[in-house]
Amino acid sequence: MPSRWVHEHRFPDSTALAHALAGELRVDLEEAIGVRKAASLVVSGGRTPLKLFGQLRTEKLEWSKVWVTLADERWVETTAEESNERMMREHLGKDLAADAHFVGLKNPAPTPEAGADWSWRALSRVPRPFDVVLLGMGEDGHTASLFPGSMTLARALDPSAPPGCVAVNALKAPHARVSLNLAALLDARRIILHIEGEAKWHVYQRARMPGSTAELPVRAVLHQKEVPVDVYWSP
Ligand code: 6PG
Repeated sequence: MPSRWVHEHRFPDSTALAHALAGELRVDLEEAIGVRKAASLVVSGGRTPLKLFGQLRTEKLEWSKVWVTLADERWVETTAEESNERMMREHLGKDLAADAHFVGLKNPAPTPEAGADWSWRALSRVPRPFDVVLLGMGEDGHTASLFPGSMTLARALDPSAPPGCVAVNALKAPHARVSLNLAALLDARRIILHIEGEAKWHVYQRARMPGSTAELPVRAVLHQKEVPVDVYWSP
């Protein structure tokens, strides 16, 4: 179903996608710096963005004016292999982008339930609305850490909730997590959904059809009408 809110960009391979998307992000961040002297980028974890980060960190930009943070985090030490903050700093926080300000979501609270408000407060330094929110998606239709089956999903997707972070414990999700809620993800000028592989394309196609957000939480992003969404896909 065509929509003026969702635009699809398909690439022959992940290298072509990474080059094109890194260039787009550079333009968005540059524009934001021109307007408000600072720019903000929210990134996701997982494997998909690694090649993009490798390209983005070499883009010429006033990186010292860019704030980078996360859409979600696994509640593990920030040095752990599974930590999104570690991934963000190691893969994006070098070369030219080393000058950016990186803000993580993990804090010393023992659980995400105890730490979620604190995670959100850490983001008070990051300019909002976010200039770009870069999301991934799992084959179960989760995005950020908004997982089907999570006890807090309905609260996290409540459009009338104030922007914030929610704790997430889902049977299918490895690790307890914290995630930006839908209101926080939509406090953005632009959302990019970056997905790769045929399986994710099919899930995305299902999610484009009207249906339950409990079944495919990414629907909440694809069917809202506040923020334009660009879908970047390669095999
Ligand atoms: C995370 C995420 C999550 C991720 C998808 C896709 O930390 O797990 O932010 O939403 O983007 O699970 O992960 P892959 O890119 O590894 O498939």
